[in-house]
Amino acid sequence: MLIEKHSSIRAHDPTLSVPHAVSPDRRELAQGMVRVNHLYRSALKMAVAQLEILDEEFASMYDHSPIHHIEYRIKTLDSIIDKLERRGLAVTIDNIYAHIQDVAGVRVICNYLDDIYYMRRLLTRTESFGIKREADYIKEPKDTGYRSLHLILDVPIVISEGTLHLPVEVQLRTIAMDMWASLEHELRYKSDRAFSESDAARLRLCSEAISEIDREMQNIYLGEQPEYYA
Ligand code: GTP
Ligand code: MG
Repeated sequence: MLIEKHSSIRAHDPTLSVPHAVSPDRRELAQGMVRVNHLYRSALKMAVAQLEILDEEFASMYDHSPIHHIEYRIKTLDSIIDKLERRGLAVTIDNIYAHIQDVAGVRVICNYLDDIYYMRRLLTRTESFGIKREADYIKEPKDTGYRSLHLILDVPIVISEGTLHLPVEVQLRTIAMDMWASLEHELRYKSDRAFSESDAARLRLCSEAISEIDREMQNIYLGEQPEYYA
């Protein structure tokens, strides 16, 4: 398994130290953010560690691992602020805890479709993490054509004051779904050219084609007959 970190998980992030020449409000927010950052990093570590444990077990005991690779990140302060403002919420520490469920995010890229639901079962067995929210955009893709299984896990972390439960967003998808999502994001938001309605429609068709490929690849893997003949 390849693990891609968008930033390392550190308990103390020196880039988040509090500058002195700021208003008391801003200072309080910055201090709160140091705490937010530490706590969510800890929850992220717990979720990633569990995934690594499972992956190492598959590597040593079985000939197939459901995990192709995982990626994870802590949401930047700028994105947190953008999201709160988009939702018309004041930028406060309380609102981050109450309304932002993807401060800690993990993406699990699986090999086959069934692997996604297998990983879901492993991650949410009663002795591991609870599920706070679930959205199955594989069974019901978004209007854009986006497909993935989203879970907001309830991850317990033990700190000096006791046990704290924090949300960690887990996006489970196949390699093909991941390819679509990265390129769609790139085309829609990052490229210089204008993104047209026709581009959107073509991407929806690509998403359907990818979904057929995912099913067929899985049928090949399971030794099952194809669902259609070319
Ligand atoms: P957000 O405010 O965007 O977090 O919405 P939400 O909390 O309702 O979450 P949602 O279930 O829509 O998932 C949001 C995340 O899923 C985004 O941050 C993306 O990573 C991914 N995502 C959702 N829709 C799309 C899409 O149409 N295209 C791509 N490329 N990614 C998407
Ligand atoms: Mg989200």
